[in-house]
Amino acid sequence: MSLADTHSHFLDLADLADGELRRLLDAARVRKTARAGKPKGTVDDDAPLAGHLLAMIFEKPSTRTRLSFDMGMRQLGGQTVILNQTDMQLGRGESIADTAEVISRFADIAMLRTGPHETLGELAAHVHIPVINGLTAYSHPCQIIADLMTFEEHKGTLAGQKLAWLGDGNNVALSFVHAAAQVDFELALATPEAFSIAPDEIDAARAKGAKITLCETAEEAAKDAAALMTDCWLSMSDDPTEAEARAKAFTPYQVTQSLMALGDDPIFLHCLPAYRDSEVTAEVIDGPRSVVFDEAENRAHAQKAIMLHCLGMLDMGA
Ligand code: CP
Ligand code: NVA
Repeated sequence: MSLADTHSHFLDLADLADGELRRLLDAARVRKTARAGKPKGTVDDDAPLAGHLLAMIFEKPSTRTRLSFDMGMRQLGGQTVILNQTDMQLGRGESIADTAEVISRFADIAMLRTGPHETLGELAAHVHIPVINGLTAYSHPCQIIADLMTFEEHKGTLAGQKLAWLGDGNNVALSFVHAAAQVDFELALATPEAFSIAPDEIDAARAKGAKITLCETAEEAAKDAAALMTDCWLSMSDDPTEAEARAKAFTPYQVTQSLMALGDDPIFLHCLPAYRDSEVTAEVIDGPRSVVFDEAENRAHAQKAIMLHCLGMLDMGA
């Protein structure tokens, strides 16, 4: 399977066919509703992935992605194995190609969290099973399904709503740009020029119909927004020696109560982990408009939809 043939992989939202993101959001919601109130370890009634094994490879740390894929796969009736790079021969120089062949013999579906997007591409090119992007330095597509799902739970339909991104034009922000080309909402981006999203990404999304506004200030982005969203100022793949310069550049984009007051009764979204009083004040993230823990929980419901999509079972009932 080549990287170009992304039919069953889940590498980026930009690869999805028309309507697929909507179907993923609907499936995540339906499955969440169907198992409401059950203990978390209970398998869904239909157990659609019984007999399937998910292999997760982590080359970077994770709390939510690890928990949500593990719990999600178990709820679908399947099983999981977690591989940390430091415990694998991959960490001692075994090739990605050989690792891909071996994983394909043992698992039915794989997930990779890594730094370079090229590593994900190489794995996807060599496996014989679907691969899911569990975050790279370039993008974080799984996150955005949980985020949009959470938005719809709290604010209703996305159409006609303005969602504001403040701060770093990073992997999460880029996946929002990709999403804006798939479902109908306005994405207002306020990022410092040095940390903005590549213009060709914005152009490509706009060419597919995305409504993206590039704002000069955080205030302009926040005005009348239904959600304010941000992320940490130093991502896992960023150079830690840049921390101070980044903090200086991003301080005007900190999500504060006064920024929230400019919105239209906005919710606050953050993929987590969060750093209080850096990208967001404690008052906002711990306040009544913050839905970050619903967002974290929804990662599991989103992952379930993604795995079913990869295995061609998305439209099966819950
Ligand atoms: N939001 C997110 O991906 O969290 P983790 O890094 O904990 O997986
Ligand atoms: N932008 C962050 C997201 C963490 C979930 C990072 O890449 O570290």
